[in-house]
Parts: sequence; C-alpha cells; structure tokens
Amino acid sequence: MKILAFAGSNSSASINKKLVTHATTFFKDQSIEILDLNDYEMPLFSVDKLAKNGLPQLALDFAKKIDESHLLFISLAENNGAYTTAFKNIFDWISVIPERKAFWGDKPTFVMATSPGPRGGASVLNLAKTTLPYYGAKVIETFSLPSFYENFNAENRIVNAEFEAELIAKIEKIKVDFLK
Ligand SMILES: Cc1cc2nc3c(=O)[nH]c(=O)nc-3n(C[C@H](O)[C@H](O)[C@H](O)COP(=O)(O)O)c2cc1C
Repeated sequence: MKILAFAGSNSSASINKKLVTHATTFFKDQSIEILDLNDYEMPLFSVDKLAKNGLPQLALDFAKKIDESHLLFISLAENNGAYTTAFKNIFDWISVIPERKAFWGDKPTFVMATSPGPRGGASVLNLAKTTLPYYGAKVIETFSLPSFYENFNAENRIVNAEFEAELIAKIEKIKVDFLK
C-alpha cells in the first residue's frame, strides 16, 4: 500500500504539511511519500502556454505520483476561502493531460485542512469535499484542525485530545477499509 501525502501549500513552514505528515505517522508498515509542492513549480497555467509549449514535465511527474499511489492524504491551506495558487496551478496542469482517467486519478483521498483561525480551513475543505469528486477523487474522510497554533505542539502532535481522537478514529476506519 502506497500512501502519497502533500499539503496544498508552498510555504516552507506550512502548517498543513505538519498536519498531513502527522496523519501519516499512524501508518507504520506502509510506503509513505510526502511531496513538496515547491518541487512541482510550473508556469502559471494558461491555455496559450499549453498550446505553445505543451505540458510541463512536472505535471506529468506529479500525475504519475498520484497514479502510482493507493491512497492520497492531502491537507489544504486556505487562501481567501479557496485553494492556494500553488495547489490550483498543479491541479489545472494535471487536468489537461490528455486521456487521463479522471483528472484526479480516481484515488481514495483523505482531505484535511488547518489554519491559524477558528474555522480551520472550513471553506477550502468544503470546496474540496464537494468538488474534488467531479475530478476523480473519492473523498473517504475529511478532517479540520482549527486554531493550529493552540492545538498542535512543537513535537508535531495534536495536543487537543478531542481533535486527536477524531483524527485517530478516522485513520482507524481508513485502515479497516483499505489495509486488507
Ligand atoms: C493570501 C492569504 C490568504 C489567506 N486566506 C485565509 C482564509 O481565507 N482563511 C483562513 O482560515 N486563513 C487564511 N489565510 C491564513 C492561512 O490559513 C495561513 O497562512 C496558513 O498558515 C496557511 O497554511 P500553510 O501554513 O499550510 O501554508 C490566508 C493567508 C494568506 C497569506
């Protein structure tokens, strides 16, 4: 079982990368790869650039990572109520790869979000939950961690027992459903 994880952020100090990395630590015997969106920085998507230069190799590389995985764990940063430009740019480039089965690869996906505020990225999480299935993703669970800096500590652990229990319960369900 290959788990592919990434944060929808290109921040070097991404709190979503910390959260998604934490979520993967509950899987001890699986192959886990954590991507950094900075390694997939491409020109800003435009149909003109696509027509002129074709697809960037990095879009194909990222799509291959998705295709080779069995489970996706993503944690989305919220910018002005929606995806970050870094995430959306990769999404848009992948979406125009010809003959790709379902843009998002048809993968079971655990979608998380966190933010420093009390809404915990609720808008971007809702956006992902309601629209990613149209692009292939099967959203199997969602998890929001509000007020990141109050609920996550320097040892990369969720300190709020209620939120940690919620995350663990969702992960245990994923284990039952997918680690056969
Ligand atoms: C341009 C910009 C827009 C933002 N918009 C939101 C927002 O709509 N909702 C929110 O909860 N936080 C918002 N934030 C705060 C982010 O949640 C915060 O920067 C968080 O650390 C982003 O996650 P990351 O560290 O994983 O990149 C915004 C931050 C920036 C820089």
